[in-house]
Amino acid sequence: MDWTLHCDVCDVDWPADEVRYRCSCGGTLDVKHPFGDRALPSLDALDARRASRNAVDRSGVWRFREWILPLDEAHIVTRGEGNTHLYRAPERLAQWVGLENLWLKHEGENPTGSFKDRGMTAGVSVARWLGMQDVACASTGNTSASLASYAAIAGMRAWVFVPEGRVAFGKLAQALAYGATTLSVRGDFDDAMRLVQDVCADEGIYLLNSVNPYRIEGQKAIGLEILQDLGWRVPDWIFVPGGNLGNNAAIARALLDLRDHGFVDRVPQISVVQAAGANPLARAWRSGAAIEALRADTLATAIRIGDPVSAHRSLRGLRQTNGRVDDVTDDEILDAKAHVDAAGIGAEPASCASVAGLRKAVLAGEVDRDAEVVCVLTGHVLKDPGLVVDYHMSQLDGHPTPFANAPIPVDATPSAVRDAIRRARGA
Ligand code: F0G
Repeated sequence: MDWTLHCDVCDVDWPADEVRYRCSCGGTLDVKHPFGDRALPSLDALDARRASRNAVDRSGVWRFREWILPLDEAHIVTRGEGNTHLYRAPERLAQWVGLENLWLKHEGENPTGSFKDRGMTAGVSVARWLGMQDVACASTGNTSASLASYAAIAGMRAWVFVPEGRVAFGKLAQALAYGATTLSVRGDFDDAMRLVQDVCADEGIYLLNSVNPYRIEGQKAIGLEILQDLGWRVPDWIFVPGGNLGNNAAIARALLDLRDHGFVDRVPQISVVQAAGANPLARAWRSGAAIEALRADTLATAIRIGDPVSAHRSLRGLRQTNGRVDDVTDDEILDAKAHVDAAGIGAEPASCASVAGLRKAVLAGEVDRDAEVVCVLTGHVLKDPGLVVDYHMSQLDGHPTPFANAPIPVDATPSAVRDAIRRARGA
């Protein structure tokens, strides 16, 4: 093991094999790699691993292990995560956004349907390396689904803390199905996050929220794989939804490392998009003041977070990539989702904040119309089936549903069906 855990605030290193998530100052920790002393694979070698028969080489995370964590293969718990599609946006969607050169990196195509699997394979592998039997997280749903699955594969006990009544059904179903012990907390995500941090140390449970530095290391693979998908061409922008703010921090870190070691000559600008009802980063970005926690509320339950754990790392990455932060209303998210879904791609509400934010930035002239942009779609369309059906049945209280595609009730006779077809065709 050649890495350490580093506090950026105090410039102090902590041992890598200690169960530790924060510095003594309370700040989050980053994995510090001695890249200069480590044999780093060429870009061609990384491409060759994609076609390997070895599951670790083929994983969209462990393929990049020299950049992420050169852990012994014996500890690795993998479901072949990553290797998600980078779709060229279908023409109608690109037109709606106002860009020609638009890509969608669909992280909903991971094994449990969200980008969290990339961080989780790293986190659960480290749990195995450290000899932990129990793992836990607080979650708006996706992290708990991912933890539950990877823990089951590793033979560990998973404890998940979810805000009661505020987790989309697809995600809750996964945590229960994969056998996690699920604590339904009478409070919101931020309450659950505080509680899990309080109890894990005493109970001998390894905490696998993105406060855990190793989770962030796995999520770096999203940035690396986007560049690999583009033949190592660097796009102008990457747009990501922001909640707990680990993902954008991870993507920025990976691409800065790649540039700093001469593998690419520049980095994309990173844009974080928050929901307007859960926008502590966007407020701080606009005002220039420190981040202040708030009570969050948005239909995009995945990013319903008012006190983000990775705020410091996120701001650092945004400054280093000349990035930006914005927020979008729930109605803007719903419109973007209707377009992403109807394009045949589909994604959960929070994911579509990235597309909504990009459209807003293009209209405001903050992103050039000829820029090459990648939007990260963070979760699968089936994660939140309740919201989709309510939208298309126009049953979302207080929200217009201009792109609703409601089912047509029809009697079970050929003539009724023919009539319905003619009416739907506008004949
Ligand atoms: N998109 C989806 C679908 C998410 O589930 C999350 C976070 C985000 C975006 C935001 O990413 O936290 O790195 O800024 N979901 C967490 C969870 C909080 O518990 O599943 P972030």
